[in-house]
Amino acid sequence: MPIPADVYREVHLVPSILSADFSRLGEQVAAVMDASVRMIHFDVMDGHYVPNLSIGPAVLASLAPVVHDRGGLFSVHLMIERPEKYAAEFVRAGADALSFHVEACAHPRHVLETIRDMGAGAGVALNPGTDVSRIEPLLGVVDFVLVMTVNPGFGGQELIAPVLGKLPWLRKRLPAHVAVEVDGGVGRDNIARVVEAGGNWVVAGSAVFGAEDPAEEARALQQTARRAAGAAGAAGAAGAAAREA
Ligand code: DX5
Ligand code: ZN
Repeated sequence: MPIPADVYREVHLVPSILSADFSRLGEQVAAVMDASVRMIHFDVMDGHYVPNLSIGPAVLASLAPVVHDRGGLFSVHLMIERPEKYAAEFVRAGADALSFHVEACAHPRHVLETIRDMGAGAGVALNPGTDVSRIEPLLGVVDFVLVMTVNPGFGGQELIAPVLGKLPWLRKRLPAHVAVEVDGGVGRDNIARVVEAGGNWVVAGSAVFGAEDPAEEARALQQTARRAAGAAGAAGAAGAAAREA
C-alpha cells in the first residue's frame, strides 16, 4: 500500500526481523506491532552481495497480512546483487518501502522509478564505506535513504559511530518529505544520538528481538527515539529563535 506522507516525516522504530525467532515469526511481529510499532524491517540477503543468506518474497507474502491488517508497513531492504531483477516481485509480495544498495546496481535511477511506478516507496541504501556524495544525483528521486551503520550481512554488530556524520549532510540536501532510515547496531545506548543526527526510521534487530521481552523493548526504544526527536526539534527551534534575536 502507498505509505501515508506523514510516515516519511515521523520518527519510527523499525524492528528488523532478522533477529526474530523464525519458528514463531508471525507471533513476534504481532507482539511488537501491538506495542506501538508501525513499520517492520525485512532484510533480504543473497549470499553474493553479502556473505549471508536470509529470506525472500515467499516469507514476505505470508507475513504481509500480519503487518498490513494491523495498519502496518514493510520496509524491505535488499542486500542482493542485481536488485533490478527482483524489485517488482518484492513489491508484489508486500513491500511498502523498498531499498537496494547503490553499490549493487548499474542503473539505480531506473530501479527507483520501477519501484515508484508500482506505488511503493523507493529507497537507496549505502554502506558505511561508501561516500554519501555517491547518491547525490539520486536525491531528487528517492522517498527515503537507508544509511548502513554496520557492514551489511549480519545482525548484532556494533554501530560505526563516524558514519552518523552522513546524516546532517543528507538532511541539509533532502526535502523534508524524504525519510532517512538508519540500520545497524542501534539500541538503547545510542538511539537518541541517531535521531539527533537526523535519522527518523530507526532500525533495531538484535536490540528488540534479542531482548527478553521484545514488545517492551520496542516500546521503550520507540519512546526514547520520539523523545529525542522532540528535544532535538525544541533545541533547533530555540537555536533559530536565538539566532533571530
Ligand atoms: C544487517 C541488516 C540489519 C540488521 C540489523 O545487514 O541490514 O537490518 O538486521 O541488526 P542489528 O540491529 O542487530 O544491528
Ligand atoms: Zn537491514
